Amino acid sequence: MFTKYQKQNNQRHIISYLWFTFSKLWAIFHKPEKVEHALRLSLKALQLDYVDLYLMHSPVAAQAMADCVTKGLTKSIGVSNFNALQLGEILEATTTPCVVNQIENHPYLEQTPLIDFCKSKNVAVTSYSPLGSSRSSETDPSLREEPLVKEMADSKGCTPAQLLIAYNLCQGLVCIPKSATPSHIKQNFKVGVNLTCKVPATRI
Ligand SMILES: NC(=O)c1ccc[n+]([C@@H]2O[C@H](COP(=O)([O-])OP(=O)(O)OC[C@H]3O[C@@H](n4cnc5c(N)ncnc54)[C@H](OP(=O)(O)O)[C@@H]3O)[C@@H](O)[C@H]2O)c1
Repeated sequence: MFTKYQKQNNQRHIISYLWFTFSKLWAIFHKPEKVEHALRLSLKALQLDYVDLYLMHSPVAAQAMADCVTKGLTKSIGVSNFNALQLGEILEATTTPCVVNQIENHPYLEQTPLIDFCKSKNVAVTSYSPLGSSRSSETDPSLREEPLVKEMADSKGCTPAQLLIAYNLCQGLVCIPKSATPSHIKQNFKVGVNLTCKVPATRI
């Protein structure tokens, strides 16, 4: 399929075909007059004509983001770290649908009410830091090292990282674990939702 497609199209289209591309408006570019410029900078860096999804952290950029959809620079727009109130407001205020809310979600930070709200509004949820990385430090140990997580992973014959990814997939979420280690990247793709995943937060 890839080869056939490669013969018919140029490299740039192959990237869009094989990958869902998304980017996020950098915090310093949320003023409406800066949004399109910021997206064009990202497109140039990515060597793409458009992305599939462009995210924002603040509603002040909403209209300018919608204009980028009209101009074909992004197929759709979404938000990050919006709570239910903020999301409800932006859905009411804009005619261009907000299709994604990207939020932190893992057993240290369960987001069930917000996830339910997003689903009720047809907003897909992307889970970031699914392995709990932003919480890992000497005073706040790695979620991957939690005894219960390790115990459950062992019982399922998978790694703690795979269990934590499955925890998100089983909730119907898009999950974006980050890794710069090739073996981890391969491992993270090999996750089945049969790794049943509801880790009781009270036990960890
Ligand atoms: N929207 C927002 O406000 C926001 C905020 C924070 C993060 N994010 C996004 O969320 C994504 C992930 O976030 P994150 O980096 O905070 O956390 P993460 O994906 O939860 O954790 C990344 C850490 O886990 C390790 N790791 C990955 N796979 C592993 C495996 N199979 N076994 C063992 N260790 C593994 C990585 O090390 P190796 O590299 O060695 O594998 C890295 O140290 C990023 O794309 C980031 O841009 C978004």
